[in-house]
Amino acid sequence: MHPVHRRITLRIAGVSLLVAALSGPVAWLVVQAQAGNSVSSSALSAALMVVLAVFVCGAVLYLSLTRLNLANERKAQDVLESHISMMEALGRAIAKRDSDSGAHNYRVAWISATLGEAVGLSGSRMQELIAGSFLHDAGKIGIPDAILLKPGMLTREEMDVMRTHVALGEEIVTGAGWLEGGKDVVANHHEKWDGSGYPRQLSGAAIPQAARIFAIADVFDALCSRRPFKEPFPVELVMEILHQSSGTHFDPHLVLEFTRLSKSIHATIMNATEDEARALMETMVRKHFST
Ligand SMILES: [Fe+2]
Repeated sequence: MHPVHRRITLRIAGVSLLVAALSGPVAWLVVQAQAGNSVSSSALSAALMVVLAVFVCGAVLYLSLTRLNLANERKAQDVLESHISMMEALGRAIAKRDSDSGAHNYRVAWISATLGEAVGLSGSRMQELIAGSFLHDAGKIGIPDAILLKPGMLTREEMDVMRTHVALGEEIVTGAGWLEGGKDVVANHHEKWDGSGYPRQLSGAAIPQAARIFAIADVFDALCSRRPFKEPFPVELVMEILHQSSGTHFDPHLVLEFTRLSKSIHATIMNATEDEARALMETMVRKHFST
């Protein structure tokens, strides 16, 4: 039994014993009162004592359970905070390997969750989408600097090594408690709708929906962002590019959904500072991890 549950059971058992201890004498008094000659006054006293005892026991029970409930809520909140901190720490560690900012992770997690909400995701499926989006490139931790940080084009052999970050990421999150829920995105974020992606060449609906959602968020963010080799593209051009890849790289249905949201997503997060992007993402996390 979980320690918290065991403590609750023991507390409730303690309160039950108190109730039993108080109830015994009260019952005896009632019996005595009914058996006596001065029935009316004794019975009234006994009845009042019963009412008082019930009231006291109820109050003790109520206060005790309320305190336990508050303690449980505090513990649940602590666990949630540690989950979020662990996810952020791992995400930032990954981001620091190939850039000096964790803002990309905050943005893609928020953009993915926004599209996820639009297509009706909730509960554990939304939590898995957020965790997976935040940790999508976890496997880059295992890619040598000479390849990961190479300024120019990668050779074919180097590209093969770079692509192993998907399998490495899958290994990292597998068995990592609740982070394992992000595996669908981590393991499939480079698959493409037409089957030309990697590493499994999955196609269509065989690609987990969370990974299909993330793929749109990731490319949208990359095209809308400033990079060492390019300026941010205007959102209209970005959406034109996404539409050109609808049905090849991206799930056509999700591209249509995303089109409806694109301007508002762009206005909300693409010019946000890292702190602002983090705040947006944390609001999204609290909304979906508290249910
Ligand atoms: Fe990747």
